[in-house]
Amino acid sequence: MPKILDGKKLSKIILEKYKKILDKRIEDKKQIPSLAVIQVGIDPASSVYIRHKEKACARVGIRFLGHRLAEDISEEELIKLIEDLNQLPDVSSILVQLPLPDHINTKKILEIIDPRKDADGFHRVNMGQLLIDAESRDYIPPCTPAGIMELLDYYEISISGKHCVVLGRSNIVGKPIAMMMLARNATVTICHSRTKNLAEITRQADIIVAAIGRPNFLIADMIREGVVLVDVGINRLDNGKLCGDIDFLDCEQKASAITPVPGGVGPMTIAGLIRNVITDY
Ligand code: GUN
Repeated sequence: MPKILDGKKLSKIILEKYKKILDKRIEDKKQIPSLAVIQVGIDPASSVYIRHKEKACARVGIRFLGHRLAEDISEEELIKLIEDLNQLPDVSSILVQLPLPDHINTKKILEIIDPRKDADGFHRVNMGQLLIDAESRDYIPPCTPAGIMELLDYYEISISGKHCVVLGRSNIVGKPIAMMMLARNATVTICHSRTKNLAEITRQADIIVAAIGRPNFLIADMIREGVVLVDVGINRLDNGKLCGDIDFLDCEQKASAITPVPGGVGPMTIAGLIRNVITDY
């Protein structure tokens, strides 16, 4: 049976460590960090993710400042709110939950956030530094890729020299995880919806990171014996159950290690977010 890469357990350990750090800061009468989270509209999945973030903040002692805005808010109003939050000294981090409604230009909004307050690490200043030197500590890393690296390190899965195949090329996961793996001396292949002969490529992988949002997409026939499988997908099936992008039951016999869904990458994303809020980069 494969090793289960238990993100739920590890994130609990990490959050307890962060709580101790913040308790000490309170004792020393230092300022308590705060996270402003902006949600536009009422996308149910976004509401669930935000609840998880709020709970994690409460657990470690971060002030959570929720801003729920109407679906039809104008781009100008949203920009004004972000600019105000940028100026407030007692707001240490800002997060705009994605996706935003179609009438709002997401790229423009992410540019408005002060890069030092960019809890998600999506600003081009942070993404640019990630591209230049992902191993440096002078930028805010995106939460999911950072959480994946922390999970692999905790389970002592070596990366150097390994062939890492990334499924998906999003700015949130695919591109940044590829850069982080590359900086740790992996050979990286990024695959996407136009990739030809995908299974031929995935069968060569030592590590696969699946982030395409297609339920149970990766099956046993597409992997080789001993592969490490990291599943970023969170898909809701018609029966209400959650599943990842990797068919867990089909693949588990062949994998040497695998992340479960839920309880794998998801909690590590939250741990990554909390780290970004409490760390001065
Ligand atoms: N929507 C899906 N994932 C994310 C994330 O990591 N951050 C934000 N802000 N929105 C998301």
